[in-house]
Amino acid sequence: MHTFGHPCEIDRIADICKRYHIAMVEDSAESIGSYYKGRHTGTFGKIGILSFNGNKTITTGGGGMIITDDDELGILAKHITTTAKKPHPWEFEHDMIGYNYRMPNINAALGCAQMEMLPEFIASKRQTATEYEAFFRSIASVIFVTEPKDCISNYWLNAILLPDEEHREAFLKASNDARVITRPAWILMNELQMFKCAPMGDLSIAKDISARLVNIPSSVRLT
Ligand SMILES: Cc1ncc(COP(=O)(O)O)c(C=O)c1O
Repeated sequence: MHTFGHPCEIDRIADICKRYHIAMVEDSAESIGSYYKGRHTGTFGKIGILSFNGNKTITTGGGGMIITDDDELGILAKHITTTAKKPHPWEFEHDMIGYNYRMPNINAALGCAQMEMLPEFIASKRQTATEYEAFFRSIASVIFVTEPKDCISNYWLNAILLPDEEHREAFLKASNDARVITRPAWILMNELQMFKCAPMGDLSIAKDISARLVNIPSSVRLT
């Protein structure tokens, strides 16, 4: 997955998957409009997804999209997400276990209109990021998270890294007291109650970043 809309080194993950015959599912929920080496995120895996949840760059209120260039898989995905009903003018026969994950037309219409606005939304988000980057450049103890090499990021969620947890807590308190909504990163999965017993590798980098990271306001600016 591409955290905060910044593409990860997806070709390295794709190589590992290829070596071990693993089908790569690419979670690009956060990264519509982000490109890795000129290619849109979500198109590297056997299957990819986009989220159109209310907090995303474009929204249909809820729901999302499956992306694949595998025709067979695409047809199967459509079938099982629309109750697995066999196409027939009057008979209702379901030939597999299916789900009703249809997007209602009204939500889809909203999504189509939003899609037309996507270039504008991304330009606005990138402009905000440019201004943040210029601002934080003068503060040596704060790192503004920027797009990785060879990437174009949608800057879905802007983030800064503070020196340590103590500074993060002070920053969160001061900014929220000043009515600027800032948040820590999501709690790491291995720290959630229900996954505490799950096997895990060395998470020292994730832990370090999680203790120092703050998401700062990132919405599209209205003109
Ligand atoms: C990486 C990632 N995957 C999946 C989801 C879930 O998407 P949805 O809210 O559309 O179910 C999110 C939502 O924020 C996400 O950030």
